[in-house]
Amino acid sequence: MSKQFDVIVVGGGPGGYVAAIRAAQLGFNVACIDEWKNAKGGPALGGTCTNIGCIPSKALLQSSENYDQAGHHFADHGIAIKGLAMDVATMLGRKDAVVKQNNDGILYLFKKNKVTFFHGRGSFVKATDAGYEIGVAGSAPDSLVGKHVVVATGSNARALPGAPFDEEVILSNDGALRVGAVPAKLGLIGSGVIGLEMGSVWRRLGSDVTVLEALPTFLGAVDEQIAREAKKAFDKQGLKIELGVKVGEVKSGKKGVSVAWTNAKGEAQTLVVDKLIVSIGRVPNTVGLGADAVGLKIDGRGAIVVDDDCKTNLPNVWAIGDVVRGPMLAHKAEEEGVAVAERIAGQHGHVNFNTVPWVIYTSPEIAWVGQTEQQLKSAGRAYKAGTFPFMANGRARALGDTTGMVKFLADATTDEILGVHIVGPQASELIAEAVVAMEFRASSEDIARICHAHPSLSEATKEAALAVEKRTLNF
Ligand code: FAD
Ligand code: NAI
Repeated sequence: MSKQFDVIVVGGGPGGYVAAIRAAQLGFNVACIDEWKNAKGGPALGGTCTNIGCIPSKALLQSSENYDQAGHHFADHGIAIKGLAMDVATMLGRKDAVVKQNNDGILYLFKKNKVTFFHGRGSFVKATDAGYEIGVAGSAPDSLVGKHVVVATGSNARALPGAPFDEEVILSNDGALRVGAVPAKLGLIGSGVIGLEMGSVWRRLGSDVTVLEALPTFLGAVDEQIAREAKKAFDKQGLKIELGVKVGEVKSGKKGVSVAWTNAKGEAQTLVVDKLIVSIGRVPNTVGLGADAVGLKIDGRGAIVVDDDCKTNLPNVWAIGDVVRGPMLAHKAEEEGVAVAERIAGQHGHVNFNTVPWVIYTSPEIAWVGQTEQQLKSAGRAYKAGTFPFMANGRARALGDTTGMVKFLADATTDEILGVHIVGPQASELIAEAVVAMEFRASSEDIARICHAHPSLSEATKEAALAVEKRTLNF
């Protein structure tokens, strides 16, 4: 006899676990199925984000940043360190402990919100009068029926053709977060978000890092002025980024990898490295979901087809997060999870894609929301721009990090904020003010007239808003 639920969520990443909690808060009887296993074979809720994505990468970024600061910047403060050393095993152990805290936190949240958790792989079996039958395969096989099903099965790393991940020398994000000793030479294919974040971690720890990027422009989705500023900083740090390359044959052995590639001038090159991280995007994951059993529609890219409300082609079957269209970001998945739970309850859940912020956690950090200057130009929208450099911000000087700027783009007539772009210290935190402002459809003048604490980095945001009307006070 199958166990009956109002809502079954397949996948316990940021999309799935948040959808399950919100549905339970709304009074539904909810099950969540997730197959991720920790090293001991037990459940590890939180998906890619918690286990091999956002959380462990930020833990290593912090550790490596601390090492970099101690080695290169403490002396400016009169702090001398003798015998500075790094213990990669401790660093990885700390990262694993941070991951476990997050895994356990979600299990606790499920108990608190009375979400029933099943550890194993969930797959569609058939549609019945009572809803959809979902089989659970794993150490405790089970059969569930849900009136509504929310699919949140996430994504997997894309491999280079002919060079599958072995996680020893050719690494996806998974292996990249488990390298046991600093590789003397590290190669990365793809200078997107993972390439830059992982490249930064290992460069700070001492690797000689080369990044091979197919596109001729650096960070094409980022505002061009901000991307240029970031590139200058990365060049100065010694991160070697080759643009406009064509990657050819990849040969790997126990000791390392050799990559044949052609540079932008068409000259043949070879990169020989100890480890190669391939970060060329991710593919939606529907492996083993049993989509065919119920006729769930999947597009040519492998993503589940959904409308603006995350409805699939099947009644009462929803899909959210990385397995559907849109940016592959944890907070986008979470927002869709909340919106779907509310729609199931007959409410009007809403996700505003125009105000989904992006953050790249390099040093300097890069963060943005809304439109870039190049997007506004190509759309023919009349706009005003204002920028303010951190060099002129007192708090940034006190911190010892004056790289970068805040940039505002506002409508030429109404002054409504159309985009905010930041490269510099704490950009990840500063962007929240811009997101709030844009959600409330604020004008740049609104921000310019708000009292910001002194001394704070957020004063640079206010000054950039003032710069839209060419009336900065401190520059
Ligand atoms: P996932 O997190 O992938 O979760 C899907 C879950 O479903 C997994 O636990 C999987 O095991 C489970 N599953 C799949 N199929 C089944 C099945 N049939 N039955 C049961 N369980 C199943 N985003 C950010 O916003 N900020 C960041 O800083 C950031 N950093 C990242 C760093 C890296 C290295 C990577 C790889 C990604 C990063 N991301 C970041 C992206 C972020 O991790 C994803 O956008 C997010 O995890 C997507 O959430 P999701 O719930 O859709 O899927
Ligand atoms: P990405 O899409 O950010 O970047 C991939 C890069 O690889 C692109 O610049 C692309 O032009 C390049 N590329 C593709 N094929 C190539 C080839 N054959 N040779 C050379 N270059 C090639 O993808 P990435 O870095 O793998 O990350 C996947 C996703 O994970 C991100 O798009 C983002 O959604 C998410 N993520 C988010 C983070 C954050 O929010 N801070 C951190 C890490 C990942």
